[in-house]
Amino acid sequence: MTEQVKQEKLLCAALDARGKAYAPYSHFQVGAAVESVGGRIYCGCNVENASYGLTNCAERSAIFNAISSGESKLLRLLVVADTPKPVAPCGACLQVMREFNIQEIILCNITGDCMIVGMAELLPYGFGPEQMKGAAGNE
Ligand code: THU
Repeated sequence: MTEQVKQEKLLCAALDARGKAYAPYSHFQVGAAVESVGGRIYCGCNVENASYGLTNCAERSAIFNAISSGESKLLRLLVVADTPKPVAPCGACLQVMREFNIQEIILCNITGDCMIVGMAELLPYGFGPEQMKGAAGNE
């Protein structure tokens, strides 16, 4: 499968997930799809809450879905929303992507404009699990 076909599959999956978004407060629907090293795709949408701060973004929903399904090595994540330019993940989602070492992030909008960016570009000098190693109590 070519990289372009893989990206199209991820986009289709993320668009489908976006259709399931629970966004009664912002009305801003977001979908995400994450690909594991083994080539499986896991999706997620944003799930809002009347207590706004409990909202879960689409990216984190997709990652938690993959991890909950037993995956541990994740390759890339695609996120899509109805934005003029490809949508960018929030800081909390970047931190969760960093935790699982997701190196490639594909930002898209619903018209299919996509942009591939690296984790190092989106979160340079990000805090990660390896920085805990050797710290007091974590030897
Ligand atoms: N949202 C996401 O799902 N992902 C992002 O990258 C940005 C924001 C959601 C959270 C909330 O439900 C809505 O979009 C508006 O912030």
